[in-house]
Amino acid sequence: MTQPALLPKSFLWGYATASYQIEGATDVDGRAPSIWDTFCKTPGKIADGSSGDVATDSYKRWKEDVQLLKSYGVKAYRFSISWSRIVPEGGRRDAVNAAGIAHYRALIEELLREGIVPFVASTLYHWDLPQALHDRYGGWLSKDEIVPDFVRYADVCFRSFGDLVQNWITFNEPWVISVLGYGVGVFAPGHVGDAEPWIVSHSVILAHAYAVKLYREQFKARHGGQIGITLDCHWLLPYDDAPENQEAALRGVAFKLAPAPLTALPEPTPRQDPIYKGCYPARVKAVLGDRLPDFTPDEVAVVRGSSDFFGLNTYATHLVRDGGRDELNGFIQTGHTRPDGTPLGTQSDLPWLQTYGPGFRSLLTYLWKTYEQPIYVTENGFPVRGENDLPVEIAVDDADRQEYYRNYAAALLQAVTEDGADVRGYFGWSLLDNFEWAEGYKVRFGVTHVDYETQERTPKKSAGFLRQWFEEHIAV
Ligand code: NOJ
Repeated sequence: MTQPALLPKSFLWGYATASYQIEGATDVDGRAPSIWDTFCKTPGKIADGSSGDVATDSYKRWKEDVQLLKSYGVKAYRFSISWSRIVPEGGRRDAVNAAGIAHYRALIEELLREGIVPFVASTLYHWDLPQALHDRYGGWLSKDEIVPDFVRYADVCFRSFGDLVQNWITFNEPWVISVLGYGVGVFAPGHVGDAEPWIVSHSVILAHAYAVKLYREQFKARHGGQIGITLDCHWLLPYDDAPENQEAALRGVAFKLAPAPLTALPEPTPRQDPIYKGCYPARVKAVLGDRLPDFTPDEVAVVRGSSDFFGLNTYATHLVRDGGRDELNGFIQTGHTRPDGTPLGTQSDLPWLQTYGPGFRSLLTYLWKTYEQPIYVTENGFPVRGENDLPVEIAVDDADRQEYYRNYAAALLQAVTEDGADVRGYFGWSLLDNFEWAEGYKVRFGVTHVDYETQERTPKKSAGFLRQWFEEHIAV
């Protein structure tokens, strides 16, 4: 009998969370408001009128959460640091908050004590910009102010945690920050328009790149760590064989990965034209024209090659076709049923997410071949349809989530063992049910059920499934 193909022994897996989605305690220990605190208080913005004021209370229950991680057999945990706890007013001349630093340091120390690598542990920015910076100069709209402010915040984090954390992520999902926050306005700060997203994403790319430069110049040698960025990208299948729909699928991927050509490769190669030239992908430029800011030659030099790995958040495969207001996406979504009537798997609680797994293999293989960078899947997960209305004893029997993880795990294994993709880690989203941004608490992504009245945590069967799957598929 032939042995089943396995992931390498060094493969890391675990779960991901984000500060505003789990911490609560928004006015504790010197934390100042972020743009999400303000956004949640704007009527009509959050589906159930809720906020992250309490969330899963993890600012206080972090020890319990670490025990949960341990019981799930993970090797690593990805969480984010709240800028508003570290530098409450945000700016480079504003005070550093010792209580905020002490909190994250205690969490990291506890993870290490329990043998859990705070691997890719620290996303510096998961959307919670200090409100003071937004009020002072428009936040991400002011490149010359926000870039040095972010770099100073990153510097404080590198100094405070760099001896314990060897794996850093600067930003989570620049496309979401820019397009959902400043284009369609469904996320904080809720701006609507067609120019701001590209100004914002430009600032984000530069803030990322200068923070990486700082880390490499002043911390990397001492601590031996790696640093990168996490981009979000779903795989896109053309709705049918029409050439314009095939092109729309490629364009959509280019839009999602727009920062990647600038950050991913250490050395330009002739094959990767955009990197060689240090500009945005041609497909994106063709749609946006002058609205896409240019990088100065100095900026190009800093941005190019500024990611040690490819951080990937991915959840779904979409069927797409050409046309419509595609400048925010590069495509039109057509739903998730093929022309012959076959659906892309079981439907989730969100219209854009099904259990179809093969697109994940295609995406991993595409990214590996295109950027030739080690990949960490920094988020992947599934909200079971109607789960919020189920009593806990039924909700924990999350068959659809297990189906999703089974499909995605199979695709991961194929991408690594059959296609040769260099994928080094995988983080399920999420450790806990939590505050799902504009959806509030109506949508649950956790492998742990959270009773929001009592804060009781109850493992779902998917947690057991993933534990067993990784036990069986990582070489010993
Ligand atoms: C990606 C985001 O990083 C995370 O915050 C969010 O909860 C998940 N997607 C699910 O929508």
